[in-house]
Order: sequence, then C-alpha cells, then structure tokens
Amino acid sequence: MQLHITETVLRDANQSLMATRLPMADFEAALDLMDSVGYHSVECWGGATFDSCLRYLGEDPWERLRVIRKHMKNTKLQMLLRGQNLLGYHHYSDDTVRRFVRKSIENGMDIIRIFDALNDMRNIETAVDECLKNGGHAQGTICYTISPIHNLEMYVGLGKQIEAMGCNSLCIKDMAGIMSPQVCFDLVTALKKEISIPIYVHTHATTGLGAMTYLKAAEAGAAGIDCATSTFAGGTSQPATESLVYTLSEMGYDCGVQRDTLKKVNDFFMPVKDKFIAQGTLDPYVLGTKADALVYQIPGGMLSNLVAQLKAQNAMHRLDEVLEETPRVRADLGYPPLVTPLSQMVGVQATVNVLLGERYKNIGKEIKAYIRGEYGKAPGAINEELAHKVLGDERPIEGRYAETVAPEFDAAKAYLGDRAHSEEDVLSYIAFPQQAEQYFAKRDSGVPLRVSYSIREVQ
Ligand code: CO
Repeated sequence: MQLHITETVLRDANQSLMATRLPMADFEAALDLMDSVGYHSVECWGGATFDSCLRYLGEDPWERLRVIRKHMKNTKLQMLLRGQNLLGYHHYSDDTVRRFVRKSIENGMDIIRIFDALNDMRNIETAVDECLKNGGHAQGTICYTISPIHNLEMYVGLGKQIEAMGCNSLCIKDMAGIMSPQVCFDLVTALKKEISIPIYVHTHATTGLGAMTYLKAAEAGAAGIDCATSTFAGGTSQPATESLVYTLSEMGYDCGVQRDTLKKVNDFFMPVKDKFIAQGTLDPYVLGTKADALVYQIPGGMLSNLVAQLKAQNAMHRLDEVLEETPRVRADLGYPPLVTPLSQMVGVQATVNVLLGERYKNIGKEIKAYIRGEYGKAPGAINEELAHKVLGDERPIEGRYAETVAPEFDAAKAYLGDRAHSEEDVLSYIAFPQQAEQYFAKRDSGVPLRVSYSIREVQ
C-alpha cells in the first residue's frame, strides 16, 4: 500500500511555529537534498508565506517560488490557497483570482490545495476552475471543525461538491489538531464510500492526537498525510515525518521516501531552529502539547499569533481569559471553522473583548464585513443581537460576494506604472498593497534588501 508524504517544514511548520518568519536564505541550501528524499510533495508556498515575504523578509514571494522550483526538479510543489481570499484576508475579484492561480502554476506550482474558511464551496470554484484549466492539480478542501452544527453528513456533502467540481483530490484540513483518530477513521471511511478521488489528511500535533490520527487515516485508506521534519515538528506544527514514516513502513505502507535522507534533511534544519529560538522568533511555548485545545479549538498559527499579540501588549497573563472568550465569539458568529482569515478575526475580537473589559465594545471591520456576508455564508446562525448591532435593519448578502467585486488588475497595473516589473508584481500589489509598495520602493532604491523580523510585528 502506498501512502504519500507531504513535507511541510517550508510552509505550515514555519507558519505554525514561528509566524512564517523563515527567510529563503535559511533553507535554500537544503532544497536539493529535500528533492532527493522522495516526498510526494513539499508544501512550500501560499498560506502566510506570501504576506511574510513582502511584509517582513524583504523577499519577492514569486522569486522564492521560482528558486524552489529550480532546485526541486523531481518533487511536486504544493501550496495552500484560501479560495477567493487567495493569500490575503478579504475576497478578491474573479479576474485577480484567475490571474493569481495561473501565475502560480506558470512559476512552478504543481498542487494547489484550495479551501474556504467557511466551507462555502462557491468561494473555491473560480480558483479550482482556473487551476484545472492550467494543468494544475486542484485539491479541494474541507475545513474540519467541531461544533453543534458540523457532522459527518455535512462533511460528506461537502466532499461530493468537491468531487463534482472536478477536483483531482480532496483534503481534510484539521488546522487545530482536534480531529480524533476515530473521527478521522469514520470521516475518511464515509467519504470513500461516496467519492472516488484520493483523500489527503492534514492535521497538527497541537493536542497530541496528530500522529494517532494519521495512523487511523492510513488504516481507513487515505492517500497521504502531511508531516514536518522532526526538529520542526510537534506542538502547533505537524507530527514528525521520520516517526510516521518509521511506524507506517513497519505496518506495511510504502511511503516512497529515503529514510537516511530524511535524517540529513533534519540535520540541516536543527541549527536553523536553534537560531530562531535564540532570536525569540520561535517561542518554545508553541512546541508543547496543549490538550486544552480540545476544548478551545485553537489552531497552531492562531495560538502563536495570540501569544505574540498578548506579549506585545504585556498581557500574557490574560491568555487563559482570551482562550475562554474565543469559543464564545465563534458561537456568536455561527461556528465558523477557525482558519485564516476567520482565526485571526475571531482571535483579535476575543482579545479586544477581554482587554477592553466589555464584549463587542469595539467590533473589528472584518467581523462587520463577515456579518454582512462578505466572506460567504456563515455555517450557522449569527447571534441576533450582534447581527443587529452591525447590520441595523439591513440584510446580509445572499449571493457569492465576488460577483460584486469589480475587476482589479488593469487599474492596479495603471496605478503602479514602471514600479511593477511584471504581472506578478501587480498581483503582489493587489494582494498586499502597502507591503508591496514598500517592497518595490526598497527594491528600486538599490539598497540591499534586509532581512528583518521581530515577533512583536505579528498583527
Ligand atoms: Co495546517
């Protein structure tokens, strides 16, 4: 039996443990080695990497992708894309989504894992369609969460929609690491009865369930799992690649990887991790097992952001209160899965509610947009009092929000003029206007781009 291994050290492990502050200079020398391991794919782009490149690392994210592609000739490159949100935090126009997906593939991407934070499948259709048109592998995604309204039938229904859309594979994305081994087994089994595309399972080690969940995923016939090289594994990151490969190989699964090369990859990343711990970029707090997350359902990236946010305000002692407020805010919003951008929105709102000492005294503008329906359909009912506070007598948007967003590309291109050197630059600007303009100005000034990072810069 084959079981695909996706290595996440460059994207999700990096994002979940150190707020995506890993510069290319710290991993480029490992790429050839990684290419020789035999991974099914390396998740290396998308998620928060794009924002982080422009905002903190002084890197062109597109150039990062091209460099990775140049070194990785044999391994599929994989990215995470937030459907109509692309790599940003609001919905873009369809022309932007199509161009972004096309350019991602042109610059070397193979597999695009596409999700919508609300599991509103209307929000991944455009990206999936464009990915397929350009010969990419479209992986439709179900965001797994636990709530009074989420159940097996709902997830199987989503799986059917993903298959009907033409996706090449499906991913069950458990960003919080709260999917239990048995639930995973039942979910993969139920999906396999109804759909025929391969099913990949993505989880985190946060609660300590992750590695066990992967074993049950394999038993149920999942096609692959996401792991991180052991030095960047555990805690809010993925379970360790070497341990899973060791165990699964003994159980008769063929993971297709060279075990001795896995060790070399890990040897490379050990001093890298030590450096970022010494700098304070990687806080060892996130490496522990947090069984409490089974109650609070806080995903890895969200927990490290909450810690950074509270540290910046000298309010770490209020972390427990914020962790208790988070599920209350989530319930008020109709139980959205806690994944970007909803995880940040809910996290910030919970923090504000605690620090101001009064709930919803200040309501974030993204939360208001969510309540107006600008992120899609909420999975459940929104707290009436809160909805009324934001909407007054207006009604939320019913249709697909992107239909109301005017094309963005031509106007952005005209605005940037010479400052944009490529279509990719224009897309960077549309995705993150301020950060891209700052990056272009630095690039054009001829001053060498400096790598700068500080945990306090986490938004
Ligand atoms: Co993840």
